[in-house]
Amino acid sequence: MDLALTPAQAAARDTARRLAQELLAPHARTFDAEHTFPTAHLQALARAGLFGVNIRPEHGGLGAGAVAYALAVRELAAACAATTVAMMVTNMVAEAIQTFGDDDQRARFLPRITSGEWPAAGFSLSEPGAGSDASSLTTRAVRDGDAYVLDGTKAWVTSGGHAGLYLVMARTNPAEKSRGISAFLVPGDAPGLTATKPEEKMGLRASATTQLVLEGCRVPAANRLGPEGIGFRIAMTSLDGGRVGVSAQACGIATAAHEAAVAYARAHPAEGDAATRAGEIDAWVRAGFGLCLRAASLKDAGRPFTRPAAMAKLYCTEMAGRACQHALRSLGLAGQDAAARVEQYARDARITRIYEGTSEVQRIVIARELLRGVSA
Ligand code: CAA
Repeated sequence: MDLALTPAQAAARDTARRLAQELLAPHARTFDAEHTFPTAHLQALARAGLFGVNIRPEHGGLGAGAVAYALAVRELAAACAATTVAMMVTNMVAEAIQTFGDDDQRARFLPRITSGEWPAAGFSLSEPGAGSDASSLTTRAVRDGDAYVLDGTKAWVTSGGHAGLYLVMARTNPAEKSRGISAFLVPGDAPGLTATKPEEKMGLRASATTQLVLEGCRVPAANRLGPEGIGFRIAMTSLDGGRVGVSAQACGIATAAHEAAVAYARAHPAEGDAATRAGEIDAWVRAGFGLCLRAASLKDAGRPFTRPAAMAKLYCTEMAGRACQHALRSLGLAGQDAAARVEQYARDARITRIYEGTSEVQRIVIARELLRGVSA
């Protein structure tokens, strides 16, 4: 899709492209091999405004919107999808604070996120026993005077152990299901909060993914985001925006696979299949990014975008997997060489079909909204 970009959108894309090429790409393979959390790179992204692409300038963001965000994420993910997921989750948490926080919370937390003082922020909804059925979470938050005491174990937390702040969903009312959940802003150094050893993952190995163990973790009541009982709505609203980001990330990975497939086809003109596969990936990526931009522009227009975001995430993440397999087929043995990075793209693409809602969850969301007759 050729868009007439606003200056702010073009600037976000161009900044991300420059940092992706100059900073991220040269280190992406070694960071993956050595499981290196990219602290300095993330802080460089923050200094360029990319921790708050959709955060208002008075809080240190670019205020550039969701289309700008999608354009930036695609550029970054084509270079290093692991650094990008930490950046994406940080933007998601910042937006939740901007949308649902009070003036005090916005003033206390947003500048520390957008400036990169904290190398990341984390989003903590899932638990070992509550993944896709997120509203069955069991972590408790019990009011005690001017604080809440949190107990439980959260799972699959991006940037666990590195984030300066976590948005943690916990149950304040066990008699209710989704309406019994509240959201809390928990500092990374809060007593009673421990991040476990990072998971050994198939892909995105430079991004740290941990459990968070909360044991008598006292959080000031002033850190509850929104009223009691709206934590699940905050999580779902955040994930709608997050899914636009994941679709852009998947398009970035697919774009990198496409570039490898094109380079191979050019170098091997006798292999007609390689050229047609490269062409097919091109069509898939363009179709996918079109869906991504549609969801993003609806979000920017303040219109419902739950279903478009789920459609974009479903299509783009499945597409990225196909694109990587196509590129691997073209490259043959060369595709097995880590230096070519195509095997890394294939590993990195796989998790995009799982986090921020599996493909099965996206199908449920799309079907529900469709049958309810929600437009867009
Ligand atoms: N926006 C706002 N509110 C929403 C909403 C949305 N998109 N979707 C649901 N809600 C609200 C509903 O209106 C309802 O509110 P009321 O009770 O006030 O009416 C409430 O939430 C419950 O809705 P449902 O009955 O639809 O909820 P459910 O329990 O059936 O959930 C589900 C269905 C869509 C499968 C949901 O559980 C879900 O999205 N699961 C996947 C969770 C997920 O994506 N996890 C990823 C975690 S983050 C991560 O991956 C790690 C990382 O850091 C990257």
